Amino acid sequence: MIDKDRVLIFDTTLRDGEQSPGATMTHDEKIEIAGLLDEMGVDIIEAGFPIASEGDFKAVSEIAKLTGRATICGLARANYKDIDRCWEAVRHAKSPRIHTFIGTSPLHRAIPNLDMDQMAGRIHDTVSHARNLCDNVQWSPMDATRTEHDYLCRVVEIAIKAGATTINIPDTVGYTAPRESSDLIRMLLERVPGADTIIFATHCHNDLGMATANALAAVEAGARQIECTINGLGERAGNTALEEVVMALKVRHDIMPYRTGVDSTRIMNISRRVATVSGFPVQFNKAIVGKNAFAHESGIHQDGMLKNAETFEIMRPTDIGLSETNLVMGKHSGRAALRSKLRDLGFELADNQLNDVFVRFKDLADRKKEVYDDDLIALVRQNDAAEDRLKIKTLRVVCGTEGPQTADLTMEIDGEEKTVHMTGDGPVDATFKAVKALFPIKARLQLYQVNAVTEGTDAQATVSVRLEEDGRIATGQSADTDTVLASAKAYVNAINRLLVRREKSAPGADTKGVSYKDAG
Ligand code: KIV
Ligand code: ZN
Repeated sequence: MIDKDRVLIFDTTLRDGEQSPGATMTHDEKIEIAGLLDEMGVDIIEAGFPIASEGDFKAVSEIAKLTGRATICGLARANYKDIDRCWEAVRHAKSPRIHTFIGTSPLHRAIPNLDMDQMAGRIHDTVSHARNLCDNVQWSPMDATRTEHDYLCRVVEIAIKAGATTINIPDTVGYTAPRESSDLIRMLLERVPGADTIIFATHCHNDLGMATANALAAVEAGARQIECTINGLGERAGNTALEEVVMALKVRHDIMPYRTGVDSTRIMNISRRVATVSGFPVQFNKAIVGKNAFAHESGIHQDGMLKNAETFEIMRPTDIGLSETNLVMGKHSGRAALRSKLRDLGFELADNQLNDVFVRFKDLADRKKEVYDDDLIALVRQNDAAEDRLKIKTLRVVCGTEGPQTADLTMEIDGEEKTVHMTGDGPVDATFKAVKALFPIKARLQLYQVNAVTEGTDAQATVSVRLEEDGRIATGQSADTDTVLASAKAYVNAINRLLVRREKSAPGADTKGVSYKDAG
């Protein structure tokens, strides 16, 4: 029985989100994010693409074994081998789901070179096969929004008859506008026999900035599952952002009377974790979770806020789990205070991790009078791991009007200390050259980004560095009151992550190496 007021939230951060170049997460990070999604009340977690790599298979299987509440879903192309592998991974879950798909638009049909009838046959066979394995089967006509309507109705009917319980309508290239999005769902509900017995899902990409609007428009027309990712993570411009649809349905319940099962007070915590582990920082003015989403700087706004918060605020910071106070910590704060503060910020650290952060916190508090929430978050994000092959020991940089700028760097590489002196075009250039001189690497620098964590000249700088090598992408981050040192640590962090990726993935064996077009 379908509850007409309830919208299911299907999170695909670990599958479509992780497909974003550079957003690769480690196994443990995936398990952690799945746990947070489950705790916050997401209905379905798409945990990965099991055939894509051994790593994806293991992550999906383990998430299936560990997760308590949510349905665990895996992705499979329209062939028996993918579907069997997917079932192998998800079958351990209390509630497993197989999600199989094929591109149905003219452009996508041309790739496996199937005509309309051949593709219809393939859909019938693969959905039936999935349904023989699992009671819960989702089917997606990829690029549905650019598929001829008559053909879309025909294949959706075939998938329903073959046993699909959810039909997902992807706007794969983010081409649709809101009115089209609702018209399409309405048309399918009206024309396809059996459409009232299944759930329609909406899966939107944000290429034209309309993903959230399109998802909500589809819900108004009768879709009852929204596919989304935390922070809108995803390929190109990303997917529908979970936090946006959940909060839109909550704040505008007056005109969109639908419920989700998500505890919105968990949003900020998971948003921060996903930003950290994916290496994709959230833009400052991002709806709901951006640093400025609840900041009121202009005099008129601040005055209004002090008199009545509702003048300029349509939701409260606490609705998404932001604490109202930004309690300042200082050099006299102890370990217990730090633990409790980090817990408020959503970080549950093991004792050894806390010890590590405490040492860095004391060091920062010696250099900086007041340590704010954002400073602490930046400290926790410095994910130097014991197994890192490269570690910075000392760095001394000379810069200023009299060139050349120089860097003297000592690093520990695979346990051995090495030192170098380099000149460069500015202090950061000299430092990066020094790292490369000690550890030659042909990776290309794709992104170098510096942000101040808080105000003031003693603010910490957070630096993100993205490297690319033979199609593998790794992002490193670090923070320090010394911008050049933060840059060096972020660069070394990116190299360490790249080395892990090198080891884990033979070229072509990971998610990015699997062609979605290869449905055969
Ligand atoms: O965007 C898309 O079409 C997808 C499918 C695999 C569902 O992510
Ligand atoms: Zn997608």
